Amino acid sequence: MKIAFFSTRSYDREYFDRENARAKHHIWYVEAPLQEETASLAQGYAAVCLFVNDRVTAAVAERLATVGVRLLALRCAGYNHVDLAAAERWGLTVVRVPAYSPHAVAEHTVALILTLNRKTHRAYNRVREGNFALENLMGFDLYGKAVGVVGTGKIGKVFAQIMMGFGCRVLGYDPFPDAELAAAGAEYVPLDDLLQRSDIVSLHCPLTEATYHLINADSLDLMRPGAMLINTGRGALIDTKAVVQALKSGHLGYLGLDVYEQEEGLFFHDFSNEIIQDDLIARLMTFPNVLITSHQAFFTHEAMTEIARTTLHNVTAFEQGLPLENAVRRGG
Ligand code: NAI
Repeated sequence: MKIAFFSTRSYDREYFDRENARAKHHIWYVEAPLQEETASLAQGYAAVCLFVNDRVTAAVAERLATVGVRLLALRCAGYNHVDLAAAERWGLTVVRVPAYSPHAVAEHTVALILTLNRKTHRAYNRVREGNFALENLMGFDLYGKAVGVVGTGKIGKVFAQIMMGFGCRVLGYDPFPDAELAAAGAEYVPLDDLLQRSDIVSLHCPLTEATYHLINADSLDLMRPGAMLINTGRGALIDTKAVVQALKSGHLGYLGLDVYEQEEGLFFHDFSNEIIQDDLIARLMTFPNVLITSHQAFFTHEAMTEIARTTLHNVTAFEQGLPLENAVRRGG
């Protein structure tokens, strides 16, 4: 099948070419993101492949359908960036990669926590400059701390299990509690309780209308003074302006982000030689107790291999008219 592959990076090409040696689709790699201005590039391609910051608005869906696209193959798990109603209206089938490596994201979440806590990033730079002082590198034991996990699906569950290995108490909040996790000792509580009782709060729920700005000025007020907030879910789970205020007041002790509300057009690109125009992220970058990575939690060899394999499998299944186990439909 002919696939127009948007937002291509070097690593996408490497992993998809390797997997495509077997699948044998015709892939055209495009560096440009998928948006209204670029949708027409897909003319003559029955499928487009898109990533987390390629937005399929109603206008993009219309444009794609008009130039003959029939399949949207998402090479990611989240689908909040696709207007599913518009896709349905324009006869576009949507498939995704529901799970590739929950371990990749869960382990990166732990990396953020350990770095923020033990300040290994600062220690690395200090020692290289011949500074062996310990001032301002003080951390805290994870052992015995309460870790709140918002969303205990595939990623949240693996993360919770890792934190239990550190000797942490796990508090969970999820409309569908996980029986195995509860049996292992996780305590399911209402969200307000979780926020009030946790030393570390980590977000692993999808971005939906219900979870948009789940962390806002009110929920931040509920959190323990000095607590750590980690978001590897989606940027808009957090009201970033409210979080900046909570950091400025000192109420929020640490912030670790792998996703950011305005990451589109910023993350996955090199702006090291340019002036950053986004004042909010520029402000966040000034705090010593904030750590930002640019949506790299998924980025492991195992996850990329699985993403390429499942995406191409989805395309093949669509082409051959087979059942689409990874189809995304409106309302779940
Ligand atoms: P999943 O579908 O297995 O789990 C999500 C869980 O959130 C489910 O148990 C669901 O019941 C729960 N949930 C739904 N609404 C909720 C609410 N209002 N409050 C609390 N919990 C709620 O999804 P998975 O694979 O664990 O991924 C979670 C999210 O992580 C994805 O939606 C995606 O946004 C994000 N993600 C981030 C990546 C990164 O590289 N930073 C990579 C992959 C996923």
